[in-house]
Amino acid sequence: MAVRPVLGILTLYLNDRGLLEERDVYRKMTLAARKLGLDLIVFTPDDVQYATNRVHAQRYVPESGSWQRIWTALPQMIFDRCRIQQSPRFERLKIFRARYGHLLFLNRPIGNKWSVYRTLLRDARFRDHLPQTRLYESSRDITAMLKRHPLLYLKPAGGTGGRGILSIRRAASGGTLIVQGRDHYRRIIRPMRVRPERLAEKLKAWDLRGRKYLVQQGIRIRLPNGRVHDYRLLVQKDGQGEWSVTGCAVRIGPPGSVTSNLHGGGQAARLDAVLPGWLGNEEKAREVQESIGRFGVEVAGYLEECYGPLCELALDLAIDRDGRFWLLEVNPKPARDVFRRAGEQEAYRLALIRPLQYALWLYRNRLRRRRNSGRTVGRKTTGSAGGASGLSPARTVGRKTGGKVLRTAGRAAVRAVGGAAARTRSDAAGLTGMRRSSAIPCGVQEEHEKKSG
Ligand SMILES: Nc1ncnc2c1ncn2[C@@H]1O[C@H](COP(=O)(O)OP(=O)(O)OP(=O)(O)O)[C@@H](O)[C@H]1O
Ligand SMILES: [Mg+2]
Repeated sequence: MAVRPVLGILTLYLNDRGLLEERDVYRKMTLAARKLGLDLIVFTPDDVQYATNRVHAQRYVPESGSWQRIWTALPQMIFDRCRIQQSPRFERLKIFRARYGHLLFLNRPIGNKWSVYRTLLRDARFRDHLPQTRLYESSRDITAMLKRHPLLYLKPAGGTGGRGILSIRRAASGGTLIVQGRDHYRRIIRPMRVRPERLAEKLKAWDLRGRKYLVQQGIRIRLPNGRVHDYRLLVQKDGQGEWSVTGCAVRIGPPGSVTSNLHGGGQAARLDAVLPGWLGNEEKAREVQESIGRFGVEVAGYLEECYGPLCELALDLAIDRDGRFWLLEVNPKPARDVFRRAGEQEAYRLALIRPLQYALWLYRNRLRRRRNSGRTVGRKTTGSAGGASGLSPARTVGRKTGGKVLRTAGRAAVRAVGGAAARTRSDAAGLTGMRRSSAIPCGVQEEHEKKSG
């Protein structure tokens, strides 16, 4: 009987007692993976025994309906689901990534919000969809931005879940500012009136410099009922190694919130239940939907060129009343729940299954390449690090010449794009085995190494 390839979900414990995020998602993925002929294990850097290159992984066993611990070899493929954490666990993740960088990763880390913003700004295709953003250095940044925009958002460059986000808007009358938002524990901060000359003092308590904050042009996304809303677009690689749109759903913030995040009490809704009404025109809503699909696929292809292989991204998009769309941020480790909660069952199913189909495609592609080339494709790049179960520790197309890795293929070229099925082909197998540090054409290396999700 053929041995099933193993996909390892790399994640982080949420605390020192071994709390694991998204276990139920991984349970569902295990069931789907079984049907496809793939085994799934879940592990964290803290489960790895470096001396032996073995892992004390968790595995869901459908027969008993329970999770088990097993000692096993490193998996043939790794799906990195680690989100940024301010903890020593995140430091240990960096060690893991460096030590086992030669293994086959479905995805590599991308930069924080600031790094991704600057990377996208370099390409003319994206500029018109990026809200003006700058790194906060002093309250003068806010004053300057307020001259151009009546609404601003202040958000941590490495934040998630709507924590520590403030909105500042010019009041309709009286020259004062209205500040509101979420504190660092995500609690709602009710609107406060602040005189512009007192703003700097107010913000001092907020520790904007210590945490690295962004000041961003705010987009007007309040629905007639007063709640903010935005759009979650998920793009993923599929079973042919192509980028495609999996789905797009709406998130609607709770009353009194300037953020829409589900963890902050937001609700999910179907796009077609909101966008046509918001734009006042069905036809326009369809056009915008197609445009954001094409945009998402282009962004994914481009970021992959810049940061290294990726297999999924979720874009947070604001759409203004004129139908212009704006990219608020790119999430490299997206949750899928928004589709389930919006009642988009098919998108939810695809969201779970596509990374598995892609992993299989990658695995088979690599085997085929090995057979066709009639030689061992994989070559170890770091002397001491171990290899994965089944396959030798391998790089796919990276060839060493005079100390530099050559990239032979990997530019994502936009092919037939259109509608929600917008797609590109990317030579993921060509990219994925490579060490990212030597394969970055966009000059964005500096920051994503330091802090990336
Ligand atoms: N420039 C903006 N204009 C309008 N609303 C914004 C803007 N930036 C952020 N928001 C609102 O705040 C929410 C959270 O912002 P953002 O997605 O940038 O941060 P986050 O905390 O990283 O969220 P996530 O958990 O999705 O990673 C957005 O989903 C949106 O509702
Ligand atoms: Mg977000």
